[in-house]
Order: sequence, then C-alpha cells, then structure tokens
Amino acid sequence: MDRIAIVGGATLEGSIPISGAKNSAIKLMAASLLTDAPLRLTNMPRLADTRFLARLLRRLGTEVTEQDGVDGPETVLHTPEIVSAFASYDLVRQMRASFNVLGPLIARTGHAKVSLPGGCSIGARPVDLHLKALEALGAHIDLNEGYVYAQAPRGLKGARIEFPFVSVGATEHTLLAAVLARGETTLLNAAQEPEIEDLANCLNMMGARIEGAGTATIRVTGVDRLAGGDHAVVPDRIEAGTYAVAAAVTGGCVRLTNCRAEHIQALLSKLVEAGVEVTPTPDGVQIRRGPERLRSVDVVTDPYPGFATDLQAQFMALMTLAAGESVIRETVFENRFMHVPELARLGADITVHGGEARVRGVEALNGAQVMATDLRASVSLVIAGLAARGETVVHRVYHLDRGFERLEEKLSNCGADIRRLKGEEDAA
Ligand code: UD1
Repeated sequence: MDRIAIVGGATLEGSIPISGAKNSAIKLMAASLLTDAPLRLTNMPRLADTRFLARLLRRLGTEVTEQDGVDGPETVLHTPEIVSAFASYDLVRQMRASFNVLGPLIARTGHAKVSLPGGCSIGARPVDLHLKALEALGAHIDLNEGYVYAQAPRGLKGARIEFPFVSVGATEHTLLAAVLARGETTLLNAAQEPEIEDLANCLNMMGARIEGAGTATIRVTGVDRLAGGDHAVVPDRIEAGTYAVAAAVTGGCVRLTNCRAEHIQALLSKLVEAGVEVTPTPDGVQIRRGPERLRSVDVVTDPYPGFATDLQAQFMALMTLAAGESVIRETVFENRFMHVPELARLGADITVHGGEARVRGVEALNGAQVMATDLRASVSLVIAGLAARGETVVHRVYHLDRGFERLEEKLSNCGADIRRLKGEEDAA
C-alpha cells in the first residue's frame, strides 16, 4: 500500500486548480443509466471512486470512455441497453454510492438486484430512506442475504415523499428514480447540497422536468424517456475547502481556481473568524494567512448550507494549532472522530465526548507515523503533517486516492514537501 511522506513547515504559495466534484460525478455517472443515448461529462475528476463505478457500470451494459477533451478530462457513458440489472456485493461494497444504481435500474428496466452498500466506516450509514422512497414510488422491495431485490414491472409512479431528516444520498437516489416515473413526485425536506442541483441540472438537460433543486422542496414531473447530452461536473467544494484549510494551516497565500467560493461559505466565514484573509477572485478564492497565530473557533456540522461534515476533520486539524479551545460538534454522522487519535499522535490535545470534540490548541505539532481511516479523516492528517515539525508518514492512502486527485502534485506545486512512497505493505 502506498504511503505519503510530508516534511512539515513549508508555507504554501501559488495556485491550485480544483477538480470536478467526486460526490457529483458518481451520481451523474449513475444518471447515464437512465438513457440509451451517450452522456458526456466534462470536468471529470479521475479518482479511485470514479474507476470503481465505471467498472460496475460496464457490467450493467455501459460503454465508458475516458478521454481528454478540449476542456480537460471527460467521460462518455453510453448504455444502449441494460445487459444486467445485478450489482454484486464485490462491486458495491467498495463504494457506498454505487448503491445509487438501484433507482435508475428499476426506472429503466422495472427490476434490479443490488447489494446493500459498504463504504466509509463513519457510523452505521443505513439506506432505509432510499428504500422507503423507492417503495413510495411503487417499487416492491425485498431484502435477502444482503441484497435488495426490487420490482416495478409496470413502472414507477409519482408520489409525495417527506424525508424525516436530510439525506443527500436519499434525495439524489429519489431524483434518479422519479424522473422516469409516471406523474408528479414531490420531495419534502430534501437535501440542498450543490451536488443535488448539479444532478438536477444534468437530468433537466437530458429532458427531465425537475424544479426546486437546491431548496428543501423539489418537484419532479415524470417523462417517458431521457436523451443524452453534455454536462460539466460542478467543482469539488470539499477539495476546495480542504486546500483552503491547508493554506491556512501553513500560512502563505494560495489561489484556488475553477471553484465556487459560495459553495464553501460556511467554511470561509469560520476561516475569517480564525484570522485568515479570504478574498474572492473571478474564478475562485484566495486564502492568505500571515505569521500571527490563528484564533480558535467553534464549529457545528450541518447539512448544506451549514458547515460540511466532510470538512470537519480538516478544520479540526487547523484548530489543533490555534490559540485557545475550540469546540467541534458533529451532527451529521456518528463515529466521525476517527482522526482524533491519529492527530493526537502528532501532539494534538483533543478530547471527545459523544458528538463533541474539544480541541485545545498547542504551540506545535511533531511529525509521526499515522494511519488514514477514511477519506476526509486521512486528508486531515496530511493537513496536520504540512504544519508539523519533521516528517509525517500517512499510511493507507488508498482512502485519499478515493477522493483527492493528484493531491501530492497540487500541494508540492505550491511548495509543500510531500511525496508518495510507492507500494510497501503495511504491517497492520
Ligand atoms: C453524502 C456524501 C458524503 C457526505 C454526506 C453528508 C456522497 C457520495 N457522499 O453521503 O461525503 O459526508 O453526504 O453531507 O455524496 N441516513 C440514514 N438512512 C438513510 C440515509 C442516510 O439514516 O437511508 C443517515 C446517515 O447515516 C447520516 C445522515 O443520514 O447519519 C446523512 O447521510 P446522507 O446525507 O445520506 O449522506 P450520504 O449520501 O451517505
């Protein structure tokens, strides 16, 4: 397994281009199952997760072509017909979002057998809301031996679906099924993340009729069929937020390009409170921090437009070096503090009670061997390593490769001392 070695202490100077959003790209790829025409996705990130999903889609009958277009990496997905409506445990367990092929498969073929998902180990992460929504749309669902067997031989039909709490995945999954259902579907208490709006924009470009995406109430009028077309993946707000925090932790000045500052407003406000200079630019945002110490700031994670849970670990790494105590409360996922013991190995002073972490800022972190546990937690270790004295080695970086494209290159182009150590087996 690869490791990443970082010698901390360099300030970051330069610009970092932000890639297309992983969390959007994988839902858009699933959307390609809804049409027999080609869907061309531009601004595509090249990541382990998109490769996993491509492998699954090929089994279902999709021709997946990755190419370099005039505007950078793109993927063309074409499913003339569904050759198999079966997604095996082996393929779905590697990435939880693969479960989202279930909705499109039922919508297009009237039946599917899809494994219950695995994914990041951050809490139980059930899919009950997904299944209830599909049932509301008329699918008959049976669970057996870890598989979902779904049937809707006469097609899906519109329904009123009120989510008991906000779920990004369930909102997206419902959209992916409802676009081809007969009649009207209303989603209440829908997630409002930019990735939902991106998915709705793509589906509408394909001929769907979705209104209200990006708000808590979404209305879908079903159509008989969808066409293909071209769609540019929205920039990755989590990647942008991660590099914003990296710039803040090291000091220096970094311009994030090809990103949408308004999508990370909650984070940027917290950075400003902590003493970081944030300046919008025409194609992104500039992050600058002088030599003065950061102030501690409290954070509560929430669904969008609140502070993203996917930026919580990174922000905690930043707060380990701020003056004073910061309280970080996680409300979206249980068990999302697995980075805490690893940050402690670098000298961070953090205590956790339930969903709340108290971070008492220390003067300095010291490099150590640490282990990545999930995607966002692992990048928090990279951030801490950038600021720590001496060398930090992050093990199990396959977690990072799931969601961060060319991370070492992007950071080293700005002056970070970071390199990948290839292929040695972890003893753990
Ligand atoms: C997506 C993102 C993930 C992000 C999360 C919250 C992708 C691929 N992943 O995950 O990076 O951290 O949104 O912004 O887009 N829940 C249930 N039952 C369900 C569905 C969810 O109880 O059927 C719970 C989850 O366990 C969690 C909460 O709802 O506690 C929110 O989860 P959800 O918004 O669905 O997250 P994901 O879509 O899995």
